Amino acid sequence: MSDNIKVKVQNMTKRFGDLLVLDDISFDVKKGEFLCIVGPTGCGKTTFLNCITKLYEPSAGEILIGGEPVNLKKHNIAYIFQEYSTMPWLTVEQNVAFGLEIKGIDKATIKKEVAEVLEIVGLTAYRDYYPVELSTSMVQRVVIARAFATKPELLLMDEPYGQLDVELRFKLEDELIRLWKRTGTTVIFITHNIEEAVYLSENILVLTNKPTTIKKKLENTLPRPRSVVDPAFVKVRNEVTELIKWW
Ligand SMILES: Nc1ncnc2c1ncn2[C@@H]1O[C@H](COP(=O)(O)OP(=O)(O)OP(=O)(O)O)[C@@H](O)[C@H]1O
Ligand SMILES: [Mg+2]
Repeated sequence: MSDNIKVKVQNMTKRFGDLLVLDDISFDVKKGEFLCIVGPTGCGKTTFLNCITKLYEPSAGEILIGGEPVNLKKHNIAYIFQEYSTMPWLTVEQNVAFGLEIKGIDKATIKKEVAEVLEIVGLTAYRDYYPVELSTSMVQRVVIARAFATKPELLLMDEPYGQLDVELRFKLEDELIRLWKRTGTTVIFITHNIEEAVYLSENILVLTNKPTTIKKKLENTLPRPRSVVDPAFVKVRNEVTELIKWW
């Protein structure tokens, strides 16, 4: 297998009893790629991420990370859930440090790395606050900071910005792109929002209704920074919208 492939999904099928959800899906994610997955409600997007993190086993086929079956002890994977959360009893700084502490990293390194990532997401002044004292978008930043602090080789994000208003979403998306570029992390980002997928991604995977297959994998070569009103952007957005006739 090519060294350039981070995630290889090979003929993956997932059923729950009689319900066929993912139907023989195959695709690759390159190292450092930012892949967006769009698909209708209930098509199995979260299920797919849960198979990467071994919460579920595929019914058939497999997922390889760097050419090997997923091994959470070895592979450094961060997962930001659909209902993301912080630990309310910890401060911002402690929340971000948490992922590093469980890895047994020394205190001085943790302090340095936490400070760096808090600076990037603009939370330095809030490091001693508790999550209840923060706005939704700030909490979301804590979650992002915690994920990036562990320097994951693979970051999985399940509709993280679904609940936010448009302006905040754009800000956080720009931040995410900055962090992604800086770290070279491979990102799989799930969204219902076509504009968001076109804004963020290098590739877009469009899924069908259940039983779910891949409708198309589109390459998105729009230059960055991107603008949602740029005619070239609108063209790609329309192309994806055309593919998404789920109803
Ligand atoms: N543990 C489970 N047991 C039985 N069925 C399940 C289980 N988890 C998911 N399903 C079913 O699998 C299908 C896919 O669910 P999943 O949550 O992956 O969809 P999704 O694409 O993430 O949807 P949404 O866009 O609403 O988040 C659904 O029909 C769901 O009811
Ligand atoms: Mg889901």
